[in-house]
Amino acid sequence: MTNWHFNTRAVHKGESPCPLTGALRTPIYQTSTFAFKDVEQGGNLFKGEDKGYIYTRLGNPTQTVLEEKMADLEEGEAACAAASGMAAVTSATLAFLNKGDHIISSRPLYGCTYSLFKDFFPRWGIEVSFVDLANIESIPKNIKENTRMIYFETPANPTMKLADLAKVAALGKSNNCITVVDNTFMTPYFQKPLTYGIDIVLHSATKYIGGHGDVIAGIIISNKDYIDEIKKGTLKDLGGVISPFDAWLLIRGLKTLPLRMERINNNAIEVAHFLASSPKIQEIYYPGLAQHPQHQLAKEQMTGFGGMISFELKGGFAAGKKLMNNLKLCTLAVSLGDAETLIQHPSSMTHSVVCEDDRLLAGISEGLVRLSVGIEDARDIISDLQQGLANL
Ligand SMILES: Cc1ncc(COP(=O)(O)O)c(C=O)c1O
Repeated sequence: MTNWHFNTRAVHKGESPCPLTGALRTPIYQTSTFAFKDVEQGGNLFKGEDKGYIYTRLGNPTQTVLEEKMADLEEGEAACAAASGMAAVTSATLAFLNKGDHIISSRPLYGCTYSLFKDFFPRWGIEVSFVDLANIESIPKNIKENTRMIYFETPANPTMKLADLAKVAALGKSNNCITVVDNTFMTPYFQKPLTYGIDIVLHSATKYIGGHGDVIAGIIISNKDYIDEIKKGTLKDLGGVISPFDAWLLIRGLKTLPLRMERINNNAIEVAHFLASSPKIQEIYYPGLAQHPQHQLAKEQMTGFGGMISFELKGGFAAGKKLMNNLKLCTLAVSLGDAETLIQHPSSMTHSVVCEDDRLLAGISEGLVRLSVGIEDARDIISDLQQGLANL
């Protein structure tokens, strides 16, 4: 790794002008297959004795550029890109789990990750304990002889609860468990879990990594051995690989990641302070506010607080619904990390697959509203929320 700073690496890492044409931008290698020079070379590529490309499900030069850039930014040895955040979750977990294994997972989690663990894992003989990782004691209490993995989000979607990266990593190591963290909300710009000893980091790259709301993708970053296992195992055989065009969109998105994250963070801090001061707000969850119960931990392990804010209004769901229906600039839509500010209702949208009892256990009340602050002018986002709140 060179000693360039993060902003420079986001622009340059993994890339160089095309030796054939001088094209500065990485080409989109829109091809399914690659011609072999002769039968011997084809065989050697399959045996791993020659370096090169075979077939895009196994690797593609555009994808490689993205993977090298992301591995560098997360300070990992290697990375592998996937067709969606969920393909990253399934590929990274199933590569290491077998029938009879047990995993500890944070609660809450993004709704589809939760339903994968809750509904599918038991069908495949994998047992899951959902715990509140804000309380680190919940790990030793739930460790079993067959616990192989600790999986979590920090901050968690959508309650913004944090887990202590260094403590989870240490407990993972002392109990022989692989630790996996979904770093979608923070991106490596604000949080680098591998530097705290976490084994595997993954992202829904659909969000801040792409940054423009025009791609569905995922990425996994770890050491070379784990990435090889995922790439040559679950990713290849379950087949959730990224397309060359989507990889190219992410390379483009990453160049402006630092600029976007700075603006989003500054906007979100202003918006969070505005919401916290509104008499219409019952509760607000944003790690950048001093009132967040884990504000100190946020300052220790994150270099910014990101753009995700959750809140409950005094009038509960009825008030939240009225607010969401009356906003003019903030768009009512799921997803997050786009240029546009997005607002949504977790209990009927992103987390509707979670049954009511589990939602309540996870702290996802019916009145909870989630905001993904965009890169617009903070004054316009605040004035839209102000007019919405005034009408309640
Ligand atoms: C934290 C988190 N992880 C994973 C995912 C799944 O990503 P994708 O929609 O790209 O499959 C999401 C989607 O919203 C998410 O918010």
